[in-house]
Amino acid sequence: MSLSNPVYASFRSIGAYVPQKILTNSDLEEMVDTSDEWITKRTGIKERHIAADDEYTSDMGAKASQKAIDRAGISKDDIDLVICATVTPDYFNMPSTACIISDKLGIKNVQAFDISAACSGFVYLLSIAKAFIESGMKKNILIVGAEKFSSIVDYTDRGTCILFGDGAGAAIMSATHDKSESMIDIHASADGSYADFLMTPAPGTVHPVSQQVIDEGLNFVQMKGNETFKLAVKTLTKDVIEILENNHISSEDIPHFIPHQANYRIIKAVGDALKMREDQVVLTVGKYGNTSAASIPMAINDIYESGRLKYGELMLLDTFGGGLTWASALLPFAGKTIES
Ligand code: UT7
Repeated sequence: MSLSNPVYASFRSIGAYVPQKILTNSDLEEMVDTSDEWITKRTGIKERHIAADDEYTSDMGAKASQKAIDRAGISKDDIDLVICATVTPDYFNMPSTACIISDKLGIKNVQAFDISAACSGFVYLLSIAKAFIESGMKKNILIVGAEKFSSIVDYTDRGTCILFGDGAGAAIMSATHDKSESMIDIHASADGSYADFLMTPAPGTVHPVSQQVIDEGLNFVQMKGNETFKLAVKTLTKDVIEILENNHISSEDIPHFIPHQANYRIIKAVGDALKMREDQVVLTVGKYGNTSAASIPMAINDIYESGRLKYGELMLLDTFGGGLTWASALLPFAGKTIES
């Protein structure tokens, strides 16, 4: 790396995959004591997509990745790092889902690993990609947020089963010397003292697989919904205000505010606090539910495929999830505008 010709990380393409099967609110009315009216009013979710039994996180991740690679106009052989953010890996210990995705895409002899940051996973990946690229270590990084969340949801627990869905999103982050394509800022943080707000107790070293795990359903996601909700609104708002202030950018100047899609009420509260107009806020929670690490890239893909996201336009990403973790990023879209 030369100081006279610095290298920057740019967001070069986006792709996503959504499984075919749809689980609607009326389907859930048949499964737990809930109603379409309650779910719509409290969350804004109408439906979510669920992967087939033999469709795994890596399958969804590989499909999203292939689109991102094609749209970046590069070959799979140009990729020098693959990282996947997921809390629903194909295998809980090893191999990593990133290794399996690489194999499915025919990407050989390249560093590949997973990260665990729950719903903040994709924005965490952006910070990792930025560090690898701007240090000169890597040039084209495939980052993937993929979740088969249905595999850890207890479909008898109305407090969680109405929220989550499956899917994947992927992006190519590339080195550039063009500063106008560079990620402007990124902030990622965590506070493990809130670990029990959102967790899957097993399997792990605390609760290795046992009959007790099965009997008590410790392999399913558990959430203190209301406490998480309140902290999410507070943290997300503070984080976005800080990143905008630090970079002397007004919320009015953000064409695409892309928050984590957990609950419409959280998004609305944060958007209102920032005085965002409706047309600035990207909303996909109604049709996908909360897809954890896949939520933000699936939302970016949505506005990309509908022609709303154009080369050079600013994206403000903001996310919050288990850990607890949170992160925000300010960056231009440096991919080709889709041809309509
Ligand atoms: O992605 C990572 C971050 N995750 C989140 O951000 C999720 C944050 N949390 C939420 O989205 C909301 O807290 C929920 C949607 C999960 C719950 O909404 P809430 O407004 O916080 O409801 P609550 O938990 O305070 O429960 C209110 C009432 C309770 O009944 P009582 O005790 O007042 O009689 C619940 O039992 O609503 C009841 N309830 C339901 N009723 C019908 C909870 N879930 C349901 C349901 N259908 N599915």
